Parts: sequence; structure tokens; C-alpha cells
Amino acid sequence: MDPIEQAEKIIDDTYVRYKTIFENTGTATILIEEDMTISMVNSELARISGIKKEQIQGKMKFPELIAGPDRAKVIANHKLRRETPGLAPRNYPCRVVVENEEVKECILTVALIQGTRQSVASITDISKQKHLEREIARIAEEERQQMGQILHDDLGSHLAGVEAMSSLLAGRLEKQGHKEAELAGEIRELVNQAIRKTRNLIQGLVPVNLADTGFMNAVLRYAREVKKAFNLDCRVTGRTEDIRFSNTVALTHVYYIIREAVNNAAKHGDAGDVEIRFEQDESDMVIDIRDNGKGMAGKADTKGIGLVIMQHRADLIGARLEIIDNPSGGTIVRCRIGKKYLL
Ligand SMILES: Nc1ncnc2c1ncn2[C@@H]1O[C@H](COP(=O)(O)OP(=O)(O)OP(=O)(O)O)[C@@H](O)[C@H]1O
Ligand SMILES: [Mg+2]
Repeated sequence: MDPIEQAEKIIDDTYVRYKTIFENTGTATILIEEDMTISMVNSELARISGIKKEQIQGKMKFPELIAGPDRAKVIANHKLRRETPGLAPRNYPCRVVVENEEVKECILTVALIQGTRQSVASITDISKQKHLEREIARIAEEERQQMGQILHDDLGSHLAGVEAMSSLLAGRLEKQGHKEAELAGEIRELVNQAIRKTRNLIQGLVPVNLADTGFMNAVLRYAREVKKAFNLDCRVTGRTEDIRFSNTVALTHVYYIIREAVNNAAKHGDAGDVEIRFEQDESDMVIDIRDNGKGMAGKADTKGIGLVIMQHRADLIGARLEIIDNPSGGTIVRCRIGKKYLL
């Protein structure tokens, strides 16, 4: 075999090898050109999208596979990967449109192919996992609520009865000038402490009794607490009439996202000013938690878990969470909640 034939054989073998890997990784994979044309797809992609390979390859643009609200993000990352490769995320969540307009929650893993302007993207469908996570969170929340209710209705009323009886006993003994009156008074005080402890427990389990208090009242109350505890100005602004959520799970997650963002601003930001702002646009409720502190740049690697939980809560209710460096100083945590979660 002459050297040219040898070189051709190596190229052919390499092509076959990579084509086989591409086809058989088990993950939906596509090759994307600089102008976003999809030049190659494997069978797994055709399977999950329900579109034939021939209808995609060389015909469809990458954003056409992506659900509307996530298209801008995908296009921006595609450009960024070619302009400043180091800044473009290697993995990111994204919703993909499949057969019958159905949308699947996926993770995209994208990389540029060395020496070219093409990128290769693998798409992992995590819809089932997300669905399960939501179910687990819903069940856990329901159980917390149930435990809170049992504590309230059963133990709470039981303790109230003991308190009333010990109060009666203490009163009688005192009237009779009995030497054990003091002891009875102490028992009464201990029962009162138990009642307070139970109440605190119930508040932890049935978060701030959100359903009774109302979402906005709970936020206002928290803002007042923060103002007092951290000695800073914490305001609630914008559309401040009560927001009604389609279910208590969504309400609880949003409330705790706000709490963590405000708490972080007060704790870490050296802020003198925290604003919780509510705006409603056509499709979403937008909640901004802004502080005028030192900003958050480069703090993503700390051991805290607050930001991770915040993101998790947002994911569970399909809300979008952004952390923005406020150009005029400080941090903005922005949470966008789709209308379907609101009444
Ligand atoms: N508003 C903010 N301003 C400045 N830095 C912030 C702000 N929010 C968060 N950070 C930084 O980001 C880090 C991560 O926040 P996160 O809420 O995950 O953890 P934490 O608050 O330190 O601990 P935890 O929430 O688990 O009690 C913080 O330690 C802090 O350095
Ligand atoms: Mg925190």
C-alpha cells in the first residue's frame, strides 16, 4: 500500500470509528455548524424528538429544537462559545420541543470541536427525574403540613387543657395560702413554655401559616423582622397587593426563595438597603431582591447551601432564577414565575 492509500485508510477508519461512537453513545447528540444549522444527528436524537434524521440534518437550525423561552439563552451561548469559549457554560438546563409540541426538560452538554467552528451537543432528557423530584417535594411538603396540623390540633389543644387546669390549681392553692402554690405556678409556667415551643415547631412545619397569613403579609412580616434584626432598610415595593398561587407548594417555595435572598443580602452583602420588588408582566410574575451591598462576584464556590436550595426550589416550580451583578453596586436575585402558578 502506498503512503497515500495508507493515509486514506487511516482517515476512513477514523471516520468510521467516530461515526460509530456518535451513533451509539446512547445519548441524543447533534453536530451544529457556526450558522446554527444542524449538520448531523444520531438515532437517539431522532427517537426523542420524534423527527426523522433526514428532516433535521442540513435542514433545521439548532434553536428550532428548543422551546421558545429558552431559545435566546441557547443562541447567546452558541455565540459566546465562539467569541469567548471559556465563558460559555459546558452544561446547562434547557427545554427541548419534541413530538406533538411536548416539551422535555433536558441538560445540554456542548463543546466546540477543536480547530473548527462546529460544536457537538448532547442532550440528556431529565424530565422524568424532574417530575419525580417535584413529586417528592410535594409529598414531603404535604407531610410537613400534616405533622404541623396534628401537632396543632392534637398536642396543642392537649397542652392548652393542661395549662388551664394547672392555672386553676395554682389559683386555688394561692387562695388557700397553701405552701405548694408556688410549685403549682412553676408547673403552669413550664406548660406555657411547652405551648410556646410547640407553636414554634408548628410554625416551622407549616411555614408561617402561609395559607392563613397570605403570601404578601408573610413577606411584609419577614421584611419587618429583617429590618429590626439587621438594622437595615428592607422595603417591599411594586405590585404589593396579595399574590394568590395555584397551590401552597409553589407559594411556599417562592416565599423561601425570597427569605434566603433577603437573608443573604443582609448577612453577606454589607447592605444598608434591601428591596423586594414585585412586577407583573404579560407572562410572568417577576420578583427582584436587590441590595446595595458589596456584590457577589466570584462567590459561587463557598460551602453554603442556600443558593443551591434556592435554585432547586425554583426548578421545582419551573421558575427562572437569575443572579445579577447590579451595575450600580450590590446584587439582584431575580425570580420569574410563570402565570400558570398564579391564580
Ligand atoms: N446578596 C449577596 N451579597 C454578597 N454576597 C452574597 C450574597 N448572597 C450570597 N453571597 C455570597 O454567596 C455565598 C453563597 O451563598 P449561600 O446562600 O449559598 O451560602 P451561605 O449564605 O454562606 O450559607 P447558608 O445559606 O447555607 O446558610 C455566600 O457565602 C456569600 O459569600
Ligand atoms: Mg445563604
